[in-house]
Order: sequence, then structure tokens, then C-alpha cells
Amino acid sequence: MNKVKAKTNIKINNSIWPAQISIIGAGRVGTTLATVISGLNNPLFKICSVSSPTQKSRKRAAAFMQAAIEKKPKTKILYTSDNIKCAAEGNIIMICTPDDIISKISAELASSGKFDAKQKLFIHFSGAKSLDALMPLKKAGGHLASLHPLKSFASIKESIKTLKGSIFGVTYEKDLAGPYILFLKKLIRALDCSIIEVSDEKKSIYHASACIASNYLVSLLNYAVQTNAIIGITPEDSLKGLESLIDGTIANIKKLGTQKSLTGPIARGDTGTIREHLESFKIFFEDGQDTVYRIMGLETAKLAHENGWIDKNTFMEFKKMFLAGKNG
Ligand SMILES: NC(=O)c1ccc[n+]([C@@H]2O[C@H](COP(=O)([O-])OP(=O)(O)OC[C@H]3O[C@@H](n4cnc5c(N)ncnc54)[C@H](OP(=O)(O)O)[C@@H]3O)[C@@H](O)[C@H]2O)c1
Repeated sequence: MNKVKAKTNIKINNSIWPAQISIIGAGRVGTTLATVISGLNNPLFKICSVSSPTQKSRKRAAAFMQAAIEKKPKTKILYTSDNIKCAAEGNIIMICTPDDIISKISAELASSGKFDAKQKLFIHFSGAKSLDALMPLKKAGGHLASLHPLKSFASIKESIKTLKGSIFGVTYEKDLAGPYILFLKKLIRALDCSIIEVSDEKKSIYHASACIASNYLVSLLNYAVQTNAIIGITPEDSLKGLESLIDGTIANIKKLGTQKSLTGPIARGDTGTIREHLESFKIFFEDGQDTVYRIMGLETAKLAHENGWIDKNTFMEFKKMFLAGKNG
């Protein structure tokens, strides 16, 4: 990850504090952030408006936020379906919509003529999209950043409870004004989270890595469950059995890192066991069902060799088996 050096020579006319935050898109990320920020006991951060097309999502956001700000003095928040009215209220505009419409929302806000974009920071939350998605707002004089929480927001209720401790990938535009950089750092600190700085050009690699660790892990475990299913073990029993194995592996990774946590037949250089696995696949499985096993096997052999746990010859033997056809 590159450290992005920001210039601090761009003038903002008004102080940005207390930050008035507008949330566009009351989905999982938008509502979680709006709720957690509302619940901070910190006068520097205020949610002033929330926009979302459906009343259902606006009402849901209001209910979560109300519960979070219960004990505070009256806080007036605008809930609206009008993104432009929403953005006009704040100086920090968080665009929490699906990735594919961030550009459309940017264009809608930039062309409205209802507020001065020069006095606002626009943030999107996509890991995949670069700052280009906000380009219309840049052209209107706005300031840009993106924050990508390295977290899976499956349910709003759970995410509110577990946001603390998360890591955010933050991307600043190259000349982002100092006060906005300070805002982002202070906000993340106030949320009890931390930051990894990611340069805009390399963001797609950063996002691919997050997909491997989160989405591909799910697919890999599903593959393990399906592998058992072929020999008649139910997914429920599979998961029960695999759970302690997975928990132990994660605990090892936390302690030792990924390189040194490898165990099993490949780490031991046990080529005979792997040959038996491949033979069994040949007997019980359809063509192609061993593809993931072979790809991951090769990656695992590389790791064992890098660790110095298997010699070059053993690595080459594994490689030959994994790259051979179905009958290898
Ligand atoms: N979910 C995750 O695990 C996760 C993790 C990291 C980053 N992110 C990023 O966070 C962003 C939001 O994702 P999400 O998971 O929160 O999505 P989501 O749950 O699908 O929520 C998106 C929200 O956008 C609203 N929306 C749709 N069209 C809109 C429009 N024209 N104007 C204003 N709001 C509109 C929808 O409102 P209605 O409900 O009213 O239709 C919906 O509630 C994305 O950029 C995503 O990549 C998500």
C-alpha cells in the first residue's frame, strides 16, 4: 500500500467543524455508519441528513439512529428521497449507494446547481471503484476521497455492533486539502477503527485481495462441503466437523501469519497421500470437480517450498501431479 502524500495548500472557506455529514443511500453501509456516528459521544461529527429512494429504508435508518441518539439533546435530521436536498445540508457527503450508480449520483449532484461543491468532501465506499466515479463532482470543484471498510456488512444490526476495530482502505485525491484528511483520520479514530492508505491507481488490486480473503474463502469452504456431499455427508454435518478445523486455522494465522500456518500432507511433503486424493477424485467425481483442488494444491506446494519445508524435487513432483490431467 502506498502512503499518499497530500498537499495542504487548497483553501476551504469555512471551518469544517463540527462536520455535518449527509448520507446518500440508507442501505447496509449507509445505515450502519449513520447509526454508529450518531451514537458517538463526539460533538465533532453530526449526521444532518439521510436520503434513500424508499420510505422503508429511510424509516429503518431513522429507527436505528433514533435508538443511538436517544439520550442526547434534540438532533434534527432530514430524511428525504431527494439526494440533492440531502447533500445541500452537509459538508461531508457520504455516497453509500451500489457501486454501479455512484457515477450517476455524482453527476446528479454536480449538475444540480443547488449548492457549492467547493465547500464539500464527497466520499464513496466502494472497494472496486476508483475516485473517477466521483469525477463530475471534481469538475464542479468538490473534494474527493473513498473509504472502503474491510468488512462484510451482512446485517445492519450485527454490523453496528461489530464495526469497531475494522480497517478502512482510504484513498485520497492527490491534492486533498489538509482539513479533509484530518476529518477522515479523526472519524476513523473516533469509530475505533484504523486506516490503510491505498493509492487510486492500485485500488483494484487491493479490492481483488479483499475478494480473495472474503468471497473466495466462502467458495472454498463451500467446495469442501460439496466434496463431502458427494460421498453422502450432509452440509450440516460437514460444517460441524469443519468448524473446529477452520477456527483452529484462523487462530494459527492470527498468531503465526499466513506463511507459517500451513499444516497437512503438502507441508509434510507427503506425495503419496496427495496421489491417493487424486485417485479418489477420479473414482467418485465427475470431470473437472478436482480443478479447485489442483489449483489450490499447487499454491500450497509453492508455499511449503517457500517455507523451506519441502525440497525442490518434492515440489516438482507435486507440481507434476497437480498440473497433470484428471488421471495424474
Ligand atoms: N455490504 C458490504 O459488505 C460492503 C462492504 C464494503 C463496502 N461496501 C460498499 O458500500 C456501498 C453500499 O453498499 P451496501 O452493501 O450498503 O449496499 P445496499 O445495502 O444495497 O444499499 C444501497 C442503498 O442505496 C440506495 N439507493 C439505490 N439507488 C439510490 C439512489 N438513486 N439514490 C440514493 N440512494 C439509492 C438503496 O436505497 P433503498 O433501500 O431506499 O432502495 C439502498 O438502501 C457500495 O459502494 C459497496 O461496494 C459494501
